[in-house]
Amino acid sequence: MSIKTRKIGIIGAGNVGSHLALQFAVQGLADEVVFYDINHDKATGESLDLLDAVSYQPHHFEAYAGTVDDMKDADILINASGRPRLQGQNRLDMMNSAVDTSKEFLPIIEKSGFDGIIISISNPCDIIAEYLQYKLDWPKQKIIGSGTALDSARLQMQLSTQLKINRRSLTAYLLGEHGDSSMIPWSHVTVAGKPIDELLAEKPDVYHMDSKDEILRKVHEEGTWENSMKGCTEFGVSSATAELVRAIYHDEHKILPCSVYLDGPYGIKDSFASVPVKIGKDGVEDIIELHLTDEENEEFQKSIKVLKEHFARALK
Ligand code: LAC
Repeated sequence: MSIKTRKIGIIGAGNVGSHLALQFAVQGLADEVVFYDINHDKATGESLDLLDAVSYQPHHFEAYAGTVDDMKDADILINASGRPRLQGQNRLDMMNSAVDTSKEFLPIIEKSGFDGIIISISNPCDIIAEYLQYKLDWPKQKIIGSGTALDSARLQMQLSTQLKINRRSLTAYLLGEHGDSSMIPWSHVTVAGKPIDELLAEKPDVYHMDSKDEILRKVHEEGTWENSMKGCTEFGVSSATAELVRAIYHDEHKILPCSVYLDGPYGIKDSFASVPVKIGKDGVEDIIELHLTDEENEEFQKSIKVLKEHFARALK
């Protein structure tokens, strides 16, 4: 019996797809990446550039522009298709074009015989992850949207900078949409397990930060600012996605905020949204249900309403 190498398919060889592949090479997370892009030359160019890097990476790595057949035996398929956001657009404004793009590659996934885990990044992230699950009738534990893994990193960045506490010593997630309606369950933001409100109240001279509304505003606007200055965002989301891939390949049982199918937890019926999720080799292993305050729950349910309304429109 020969050993199977770790193979990942990436749909879309744009900024996000290509940086994702570089993360896999640099972090030694995969052995083989196959790109699928309607622009085959772009996929080929990215692959060749990645191959130039192999001499300086921790281990050997293959990358190429593939065909439908090449996807068949991938372990993980990542949807990084679509264009960057235009100025003035929010993520939900990208829905119609993202759904049209999905329609182009859905038959390719179906024809390929691929049966692994799908991670969807393309915006609007929750809607497109749900659309793929619905159209492919994919097993729900095997499809994950990168969701608020990125927003949560932005929250951690704000808190870390303002409180002067290393990000890894914080537990801080956003719930709901990867987008403008996501919310911060502040009652679950902790420093070494200590609720942040207690820390702020006990040591106001040492720890201070902007108002909670201002922090949420900054987290919501971060992607738009970056996009307006550099024309896309890529490093944050590809790092967040690489973390999901690591949790899957190493069967880490790691809790990460990401967008999954919810039907029961948080009183939510039949919708994708981000919550803390336990991720391992089979994908979604468990959903962690936080006890939210009434006010937090109200904000979270508002975000779910936005997602449900848009998903209904995506199906029309
Ligand atoms: C962002 C994109 C990936 O927030 O939605 O940067």
